[in-house]
Amino acid sequence: IGKQVYFFDTVSSTQRIAKKLTMNQVEEGTMIIAEEQTDGRGRMARKWHSQKGGLWFSFIVKPEIPIATAPQLTLLTAVAVVRTIEDLLPLHPKIKWPNDILLHGKKVCGILTELQATDGNIEAVIIGVGLNVNQQKEAFPEDIRKKATSISLETGMIVDPISLLKGFCFQFEQLYKLFLQHGFQQIKNMWEQSCETIGKEVTATTFKGTVKGEAFGISDEGALLLKEKDGSVLRIFSADIDGS
Ligand code: BTN
Repeated sequence: IGKQVYFFDTVSSTQRIAKKLTMNQVEEGTMIIAEEQTDGRGRMARKWHSQKGGLWFSFIVKPEIPIATAPQLTLLTAVAVVRTIEDLLPLHPKIKWPNDILLHGKKVCGILTELQATDGNIEAVIIGVGLNVNQQKEAFPEDIRKKATSISLETGMIVDPISLLKGFCFQFEQLYKLFLQHGFQQIKNMWEQSCETIGKEVTATTFKGTVKGEAFGISDEGALLLKEKDGSVLRIFSADIDGS
């Protein structure tokens, strides 16, 4: 990935541009990067604060895999981000299901995966990564200051976003090759090892309401597996998770 790169100063959202590109013939691995996004989006259509200082990019992959396994790519991307940070910095990021990367309990990176499919076949997967790199505290709005952090805030260092991006491309490519050749199992193991949600009592808020249970793993579709008090197993596909 990253052989074809479009670099912008300011865009609405790299994800939106990447999605537009997939309407035409676009090479696998094409990447859109911006220094600043004016309308960055997160999961569940939430706003994603994307001022200068962070690393905001989206890229396109075209794997020949069944559509049901597409969420595995989000988990793979989370593992790639963890490895990138661990490789370059004295930090040990943790994953919070489904795909938040945390440093000391605060979110440093979010991942957004969107699919383009026709007749049940994947045409393209658009993966967006937002990594807080050099932002200082004031860059985050008051309401998310307690929950968000940047690499700089955690290390006291100013880090070159492009070296992180190069590291990510390398890590992603290795994992992606492994995934295409050998499937999801090894990636899943790596993901579970870095996940802080597994083994914890959690509260999951879904659109249907709130459930409590012990998170004990993920399914191959990327669903969080919860064991309730009475022993029944729930598969959570979309929710906000809080430790309790
Ligand atoms: C989340 O945790 O909710 C996902 C956040 C994803 C943000 C990235 S920044 C680059 C790309 N462009 C966007 O508008 N969103 C993603």
